[in-house]
Amino acid sequence: MKNIYKNSPSNLSKAKKILEKNNIIAVPTETVYGLAGNAYSNSSIKKIYKLKKRPKKNPLIIHYYNIKELRKDAYIDEKFLKLYKKFSPGPLTYVLRKKKKSKISSLANAKLKSIAVRFPKNITIRNLLKQLNFPLAIPSANISSNVSPISASDVIDEFGKKINFILDGGRSTIGLESTVISLYGKTKILRPGVISHKKIGKILKKNISVSKKTKELRSPGLLKKHYSPGIPIKLNCKKADKKTAFIVFGRKYKKAGNVFNLSSGGSLKEAAKNLYKTLRKIKNLKYKKINVVKIPKHNIGIAINDRLRRASH
Ligand code: TXA
Ligand code: MG
Repeated sequence: MKNIYKNSPSNLSKAKKILEKNNIIAVPTETVYGLAGNAYSNSSIKKIYKLKKRPKKNPLIIHYYNIKELRKDAYIDEKFLKLYKKFSPGPLTYVLRKKKKSKISSLANAKLKSIAVRFPKNITIRNLLKQLNFPLAIPSANISSNVSPISASDVIDEFGKKINFILDGGRSTIGLESTVISLYGKTKILRPGVISHKKIGKILKKNISVSKKTKELRSPGLLKKHYSPGIPIKLNCKKADKKTAFIVFGRKYKKAGNVFNLSSGGSLKEAAKNLYKTLRKIKNLKYKKINVVKIPKHNIGIAINDRLRRASH
């Protein structure tokens, strides 16, 4: 494809030039693909919201190469440092208090006092971030409320020709958005992900709650429908007729045309990785209904159930 660019020095410098002109590109991360823009620039941020058709009240995550750049924009504390040391770079997003003198566009964090920040692990996006003089605002590269993309071709599936530069970093290895933890006010998980509240609790040596109130996400949660393939989804099913796509998990399910197994070996990590790919595939096969079996509700299963619940609204 003409608009897909592999990770090479010349392509990275092309990407850099586009971003410096406050234009938008699509980028890989280990969680999902995103739409990236200069976080200092109001005009970049406006372009992102417009392209995604995203409500302005839903703030973006700012992506950094490392902690040094972050210090200009947010207050950090012991808790942050402990988690940063253990989980970053990686699929964990921290909500912190924003500094008054920060240059981050206030449109990017919906004019809140807090700011969400992440240090992605994917090598391609890290190579790019390292070369820039500004952090990147990167929401997932899907039209608001659709399923998130996990490959360059998924980005084309979402935006077609509206994005003319997609940096290709291979398929996202995690396949589900980062865990969002608020360290601003009470410590709590705002969006579950593959880094579970249990893993975080172990590091902080206390119980971490997972917010149930979608409102607290200020958030895609405000939109009830989210991560949705645009087809009715029924959860906790035991079976499905042949016309219905049947999403299953574990050994006991027989193969069939309409059966999509997230992990026949029963691995939640594998299931997370396959979830969005499967939903997109089912949508493109033009199924009219989806039934999903019960998925275990522990560890990564919490994140999978969270996305399925939102997709089913
Ligand atoms: O894995 C990810 O986090 C991906 C990749 C591209 O890095 N990005 C992503 O961004 O999922 P997005 O925009 O699709 O989701 C951002 C989430 C939303 O739920 C938003 O409400 C929350 O982060 N968020 C952002 N800023 C916040 C803030 N200041 N307070 C609370 N929640 C915030
Ligand atoms: Mg998103």
